[in-house]
Amino acid sequence: MTTEQCGQDQLPIGLFDSGVGGLTVLDAMRRLMPGEDYLFLGDTARVPYGAKSQKTIVRYSLQAAAKLIGQRIKLLVIACNTATAAALPALRETWPDMPIIGVIEPGSRAACEASPSGDIAVIATESTIRSGAYAEAILRRRPEAQVRSLACPLFVPLAEEGWFDGPIAEGVVSRYLEPLFEKSPAPDCLVLGCTHYPMLAAAIRKVVGPEVHIVDSAATTAEVVKRRLADKGLAHPQAGRTGRIRFFITDDPQRFTRTGSLFLNMTITDSDVRLVDLENVPLPDAAETPTQRKSS
Ligand code: DGL
Repeated sequence: MTTEQCGQDQLPIGLFDSGVGGLTVLDAMRRLMPGEDYLFLGDTARVPYGAKSQKTIVRYSLQAAAKLIGQRIKLLVIACNTATAAALPALRETWPDMPIIGVIEPGSRAACEASPSGDIAVIATESTIRSGAYAEAILRRRPEAQVRSLACPLFVPLAEEGWFDGPIAEGVVSRYLEPLFEKSPAPDCLVLGCTHYPMLAAAIRKVVGPEVHIVDSAATTAEVVKRRLADKGLAHPQAGRTGRIRFFITDDPQRFTRTGSLFLNMTITDSDVRLVDLENVPLPDAAETPTQRKSS
């Protein structure tokens, strides 16, 4: 059966990220919902988004979403904190009928539930920190919380290079995080507000110590997606099947399959990866002047 003929519930779930980081979200989703098909887009030619302006990130995100929605998907996950913080309202405004889920709201909820004291540290890209999206989402749930936000720009290149642990990763991690965690009282919860950061979890754990709750939004986002599919009657109807995962990327497939397999915890085969161009994707009219609203 082609996607033209099949019912809405049999369509794939679309996800996009600036690069490979969103594969940590896809990994959580495929474990929780192995019977779904997935179409993942990694904008590997334009990574990183985290140091770019909001205007540029919104444009890139609209192009990525348009590409996926043009392929017919039943739900869209913005598997990138930076794109969620900058572009979630614009995407929802552009495609009001498409269920669109970002990673910041689920991650903030998990942090609020995990932190006994409400002293919560958030680490993310410069753009996500500048947006204030995490602090806002956490304080909406726990107005008494103290949110300490910190950009860690070197974490993304470290993770993209596959340098997840060892002396270099630990040195970089401690340079950023030690000042936050060496003084008492230290935060009791650390939000990994970037989909690349879970790959550095072992190095981060070494620096922050065993007591701190480390929250990454991948598992919570997967749960939100599962619930949303059930609410909308969109979960794949065939029990016991193993879904297919396909990948769209915008640059060098070899590098993507190599690093991506580490992020996804499974081998990505060349035949499932397609090089696409996002610069010339036609956008719907509403995308030309999306209103800037607050993200979640
Ligand atoms: N994956 C992105 C995020 O979650 C960070 C990578 C980038 O800067 O593009 O924020």
